[in-house]
Amino acid sequence: PYVITEPCIGVKDKSCVAVCPVDCIKEADDQLYIDPSECIDCGLCEPECPVDAIFMEDEVPEQWKKFIQINADYAKK
Ligand code: SF4
Ligand code: F3S
Repeated sequence: PYVITEPCIGVKDKSCVAVCPVDCIKEADDQLYIDPSECIDCGLCEPECPVDAIFMEDEVPEQWKKFIQINADYAKK
C-alpha cells in the first residue's frame, strides 16, 4: 500500500482524498492516513500531494519508515 508520512503533519492539503477511488484515506487530528487493507496501489494520490508526503511502502525514506506502522495502526482505530 501507499503511506502518508511526516510532511502531511499540519498541512493536510487533502488533494489526495479527492482522487482516491476507494476512499481509504482517513483524517486524524494531526495528519491523514491510508488504510493499508483498503489501498489498491493505484498510485493516483502520490503526485497530487503538494508536500510530497505520500510514498509506496517500499519507497518510504529511511527517516520516515515508522509511518508505515503509524498508518496501519490508525486504520485499526
Ligand atoms: Fe487511494 Fe490509490 Fe492512493 Fe491507495 S494509492 S491511497 S487507493 S489513491
Ligand atoms: Fe496530506 Fe498531502 Fe494528502 S498534505 S492530506 S498527504 S495531499
